[in-house]
Amino acid sequence: MDKKDKVTVPNFLAMKDRGEKITMITCYEATFAGLLEESGIDCVLVGDSMGMVVQGLPNTLPVTMEQMVYHCRTVARRLTRPLLIGDLPFGSYQVSPQQGLENSIRLIKEGRVEVVKLEGGVNMAATIEAIARVDIPVMGHIGLTPQSYHRMGGHKVQGRRTATQTGAGAAPGSRERVIEDAKAVQDAGAMGVVLEGIPLDLAREITALLDIPTIGIGAGQYCDGQVLVLHDVLGLSDLSLRFTKKYGDLRSAAVNAVDDYVREVKDGAFPDEGHSYK
Ligand code: KIV
Repeated sequence: MDKKDKVTVPNFLAMKDRGEKITMITCYEATFAGLLEESGIDCVLVGDSMGMVVQGLPNTLPVTMEQMVYHCRTVARRLTRPLLIGDLPFGSYQVSPQQGLENSIRLIKEGRVEVVKLEGGVNMAATIEAIARVDIPVMGHIGLTPQSYHRMGGHKVQGRRTATQTGAGAAPGSRERVIEDAKAVQDAGAMGVVLEGIPLDLAREITALLDIPTIGIGAGQYCDGQVLVLHDVLGLSDLSLRFTKKYGDLRSAAVNAVDDYVREVKDGAFPDEGHSYK
């Protein structure tokens, strides 16, 4: 994609067809949205990881629909070129397809996103279908689905064991089940799918199997695109996870800047006449 072209859903789909890697990053507020607007990023996700990154929660489960609408709308104010995707939070779509549809309409109307994303495969096919049927673009999210935190026993890599190894058929978390989930998401009408926390050979198999783009996070190099959390990319978080990469060290830069300010105030060097009104 040219840096100046608006990324639309048809453009997003065409990128897989022509073998162009798709880039996606998270964002939760307007200042960073303004920076991303200037960058060459293809897609911006207002993820419910906001609960962990912004609110300091241990997982995404407490994030509410009101909070997602607020953060999506805040990002949408400063973002026009990248494709804007918003997460449906836990509890906003699991009750019924009707609930998922109503909250997707809210995220589009009030949150001003262009695509909604939800977690789940086979078990969420009817909901994806209900949303896609009214022409709301839906992105799936399978593998390590953070909203399944308690079932998984934490944020755990999925799809490592086959159905035979688990001894429980294609149980959630098995390799076969992740493949079934990928097919179900596509068949239900999703326009793309996030593959999170799965072995790279499984992500490769799914990417070859699907016509819709796969966007990986902790899923290796063979996906059609990649997504990372903005704060990890900028080096603002203190986490050091295997699948993520720091492309900057804004944490040190921020601490140093505040320390410089503190020192200058203590020393009486700030504010000087140049930073005062006459
Ligand atoms: O909430 C989020 O940031 C996400 C990404 C990790 C894909 O869903």
